[in-house]
Amino acid sequence: MANERLAPSILSANFAKLGEEVDNILAAGADIVHFDVMDNHYVPNLTVGPLVCEALTKHGITAPIDVHLMVSPVDRIVGDFAQAGASIITFHPEASAHIDRTLQVIHSEGCKAGLVFNPATPLSHLDYVMDKIDMILIMSVNPGFGGQSFIPAALDKLRQARQRIDDSGFDIRLEIDGGVKVDNIAEIRDAGADTFVAGSGLFGHANESDPHRYDTIIQQFRDALK
Ligand code: DX5
Ligand code: ZN
Repeated sequence: MANERLAPSILSANFAKLGEEVDNILAAGADIVHFDVMDNHYVPNLTVGPLVCEALTKHGITAPIDVHLMVSPVDRIVGDFAQAGASIITFHPEASAHIDRTLQVIHSEGCKAGLVFNPATPLSHLDYVMDKIDMILIMSVNPGFGGQSFIPAALDKLRQARQRIDDSGFDIRLEIDGGVKVDNIAEIRDAGADTFVAGSGLFGHANESDPHRYDTIIQQFRDALK
């Protein structure tokens, strides 16, 4: 339980009040901030960049910021996010011409690094880099939009990724992203995930009594993990 981390995706937050939204979800007990970066090139949507990440840092967010880069190319933008306060930076192997080099760039900037696997991307990209990653992120939707349905094949992929992590002996987080809700998080955990991104499943569900608070929904996620 203590090892399981909830990572709200800011994509479903109210961007006009982003600092307050992130404060409120963390106050309710979320663990890390999942920061979705889309470039209208690698994925068909455009979101936010280092300026907004920096704004959250300056606002006083101290929880780890988990930057999910859905951009291509990757390397040039890494330093900007490190400067902006990113703790973890993950990227898609298809978006980098040189995966090993990108991992080195991220680490050289003082951040943790991870690889992200789209629903049809094979885990074989991990073969030669298990000693160079801190996180594996399994996409359970095709990247680009919040609010999509969980693709069930991600469960088997999680089991395979968990096996690879356990066999390697390295300390690597296993994160899931896309369509995570109160009613499926337990089976996702049972398949091996320890870090759970949720956007529409969290930010769409403020307390009934107070639209600025998220205690009820966070507690429901925690209870589902018991
Ligand atoms: C999709 C993003 C996800 C997404 C999750 O490209 O990487 O983080 O916002 O949103 P939900 O939880 O609504 O599927
Ligand atoms: Zn994401």
